[in-house]
Amino acid sequence: MCGIVAGVSRRNIIPSLLEGLKRLEYRGYDSCGVAVLQRGEARRVRTLSRVCALEADARAAELDGLTGVAHTRWATHGMPVIDNAHPIFSGEQIAVVHNGIIENHEALRQSLTEKGYEFNSQTDTEVIAHLVHEHYCGDILAAVRNATRLLQGAYAIAVMCRDEPNRVIGARQGSPLVVGIGKDGVFLASDTFALAGCASRFIYLEEGDLVDINGLDVQICDAQGQAVARREIAFVQHALGTELGAYRHFMQKEIFEQPVAVARTLATIVDLDPLQVGMPREGELADVSNLLMLGCGTSYYAALTACGWFERFANVAARAEISSEYRYREHVSQGNTLVVAVSQSGETADTLAALRYAQSMGEERTVAICNVAASAMVRQSRWAFITEAGAEVGVASTKAFTTQLVALFLLAIVIGRQRGRVSQSEAVVYMRQLAALPDALRNVLAREPEIMAWAEELYQKEHALFLGRGTHYPIALEGALKLKEISYIHAEGYPAGELKHGPLALVTDAMPVIVTAPNDVLLHKLKSNMEEVRARGGRLFVLADSDTGLKSGPGVRLIRLPAWFGPLSPVLHVVALQLLAYHVACLRGTDIDKPRNLAKSVTVE
Ligand code: G6P
Repeated sequence: MCGIVAGVSRRNIIPSLLEGLKRLEYRGYDSCGVAVLQRGEARRVRTLSRVCALEADARAAELDGLTGVAHTRWATHGMPVIDNAHPIFSGEQIAVVHNGIIENHEALRQSLTEKGYEFNSQTDTEVIAHLVHEHYCGDILAAVRNATRLLQGAYAIAVMCRDEPNRVIGARQGSPLVVGIGKDGVFLASDTFALAGCASRFIYLEEGDLVDINGLDVQICDAQGQAVARREIAFVQHALGTELGAYRHFMQKEIFEQPVAVARTLATIVDLDPLQVGMPREGELADVSNLLMLGCGTSYYAALTACGWFERFANVAARAEISSEYRYREHVSQGNTLVVAVSQSGETADTLAALRYAQSMGEERTVAICNVAASAMVRQSRWAFITEAGAEVGVASTKAFTTQLVALFLLAIVIGRQRGRVSQSEAVVYMRQLAALPDALRNVLAREPEIMAWAEELYQKEHALFLGRGTHYPIALEGALKLKEISYIHAEGYPAGELKHGPLALVTDAMPVIVTAPNDVLLHKLKSNMEEVRARGGRLFVLADSDTGLKSGPGVRLIRLPAWFGPLSPVLHVVALQLLAYHVACLRGTDIDKPRNLAKSVTVE
C-alpha cells in the first residue's frame, strides 16, 4: 500500500528519503518516486521499478536538496505508469505525495478543469496538488488547510512548495501519518519503521491534524486550526527486527521466528490478564455473552479460528466478521458484547472503520489485538493486547498470525475465568500448554525437509484444495490463502464435511488435496472425508498428529507432526502450511516477500 516519506533536513535529504522508502517496500508497491527542492526548482525522479532503481536514477539526476517528499505507490486510481507515480506536481510549484483515496475527485477534477487546470495523470492525488496550487497565496500551510477542507475520503499527504524551500506540510484524515524528529531533521512517514534510521522521537498525528515542518520547527494544529500538543513516543527497536540475516526471504525468516515471537508474546502476560492498556477491573468482562471479532485476510482467519475457543472456554456466542462486509451491514445489537479488532498493523482501513462503526452503534467494550502499539486501532479501542511478533516484513502474514492466535486464546481463557467457566486449575493447565508452544513450534519447523519434498510434488500444479474441520477449518483457509498469495496457485480451503456438497466434483489426480488432521474428536469424521477423496482417485497430502494412527499409502503422502497439542493444535498445523506455501513459491520463483498486486498494510478501502 502507498507509503510516504518526507521532511526537512540539515543535509541532503535524499539518502534519508530513499532509506525510508526501502523500509516501506514491505507494504507492497508498483512504482515509486522522490522530489526535492534544489536551487529554486522542484526536481523529481520516478520509476516503475524498485527503490534501488530509483536510487540510481536520483544519483544520475544529481538530486540534492534539504527538503523533499517521496512515495511508494500501490495503484488505486490509474494504472502503474510513470505519469501516475508520485510525487505529483501542480505546475512546477507544488509537489504532493498521498496515501488514501479521494472519493470526490471526479467532481473536483471537473471544477479544476473548468478553471483551466490540466491533468497529466489519472490519479485522484492530482486534484490535491491543483487545489493546493489554486489556494496558494504565499503560505503553503494555509493553502493545504483550505484545500483539504474540500476533500472527501481518506488521505495522508505531504506537500512542499518551490517558493518555501524549508517547509513541508503534512495532513491526515483516515490514513496514518507520523512525525519523526531526529538530530538531522524533521520527517514525516506512513509509519515509524520508515524513519527508524533518521529519527528517534515520534508523534502520531490524529484525525484531521495538520503539521507544519518549517526548518527544524514542528507545529501541529487540529481540524479546527487550533495549535495542539500531541504525545511524543520514543522508538522501540524490536529484537525481532528487519535484517534478513542468513535467510533467503523475510517470509522464511519470519516463519522461523515464530517460537521466539510466541514466547515474547507470552512473556507480556502478568496474572493471566492480557488486557494491558487501561486494565479492566476484575470481573469487567464477567457479563460478556457475545463476542464480535473483526478482521481482514489472515487476521480474519485468526478470529475465525478463535470462535471455537470462545465458545468452548468462555461459553460466549462468538462470531468473526470480515471487516469490509460488516461495516456496511445492519448492526444488530446483541447486548453484552465485546468487540475485538484483530489486526497485525492496527491500520487496516476496513477494520478501523468496522471498529468505529461498532462503536457508533453503541458498542463500548472494545479490544484491539495488534502488533503495533501506537496504531490507530489501539488508540481507538478501550483495551488492547499488543502481540510481540516484532516487525513483519513479508506481505504474507506468518508470525503475526500465530501471535494473534496466542492472544485470542488468552482472551478466551480470561473471559472464561471471569465468567466462572474456567477454574483456576484449568487456567494453569492452559497456561502450561501455552508455555510449551515455542518448543512444539520448533518441532514442527524441524519437519521442513519433508515439507520441501511435498513442495517438489506440488509446485507444478495449478490448483489445490485444503481441508480441515473444527478449529482446523480456518487453518485450511489460511493454508490456501498462503499458497495463493505467494505461489499464485489457485487454492481453496473447505470444511472437510462440505466436500460432498460441491468441491468433490473437482477432485482428480491433478487436484492435490491437503488435509490438516489433528487427533481431535472430529478425526474419525475427517478420515471418512479422506476416504471420499481416495475413492475418486484424489491424491492426499496429510499433516497428521503422530497419535492419529494415520499412515502413508498409495495416493496418501503423510507428514507426522508432534502428538495432538490440545486446543492449541491449530497454531502448530498452520506453521507446516506456511512452510509448504513458502517452498512451493520458492520452486516457482515468485517474488515471495512482495507478491504481485498485494500490499502489506491496506490503508485504503
Ligand atoms: C493485507 C496483508 C495480509 C493481512 C491483511 C490484514 O491483505 O497482505 O497479510 O492479513 O492485510 O492486515 P492487518 O494489518 O489488519 O492484520
